[in-house]
Amino acid sequence: MDSNVKPQQGRRAFEMDVKAIRANARNNLDKGAITETYTADRDTVLKLLNDALATELVCVMRYKRHHYMATGIHAEPVAAEFALHADQEMQHADSIAGRIVELGGEPDFSPDTLTARSHAEYVPGTDLHDMIKEDLVAERIAIDSYRKMIKYIGDGDATTRRMLEEILAVEEEHANDMADLLQRG
Ligand SMILES: [Fe+2]
Ligand SMILES: [Fe+2]
Repeated sequence: MDSNVKPQQGRRAFEMDVKAIRANARNNLDKGAITETYTADRDTVLKLLNDALATELVCVMRYKRHHYMATGIHAEPVAAEFALHADQEMQHADSIAGRIVELGGEPDFSPDTLTARSHAEYVPGTDLHDMIKEDLVAERIAIDSYRKMIKYIGDGDATTRRMLEEILAVEEEHANDMADLLQRG
């Protein structure tokens, strides 16, 4: 059975071989959500996601450190902002780890290799100004690396791309927040 709809003049036809789709769906059941139409390179996507997971985990730890070390006259609202960002980075790590499993991979939480795999660095920061600056740098690194991943994935894996796009939007908010704080300080 083919579910082909005749297009309006000048438009592209929608063609779908349902029989083939049904047959393919029965093959490779062990691959779960990875079906015939998944055109991304799964191993590369898993590697990218595990590096992103490492980045998010390092960001959680850096923001946590900054939250607890924030002192001085303007510290309170800034410390609260650091805590919020730490929570949001953890949510990103959770989304990424969940997607890795959906793709049939294993999330790498190994602390031994975390900083080596992370795009952003763990900079402890000394004073408040320094911490905010280092967080802004890390956010800008995250923004660029997510943008590159999104571009690479393209149409091959729409769900992973959409997740990364949502994370990217939050990283842009984070960078804005840090830039605002830097200007105020
Ligand atoms: Fe994040
Ligand atoms: Fe962030």
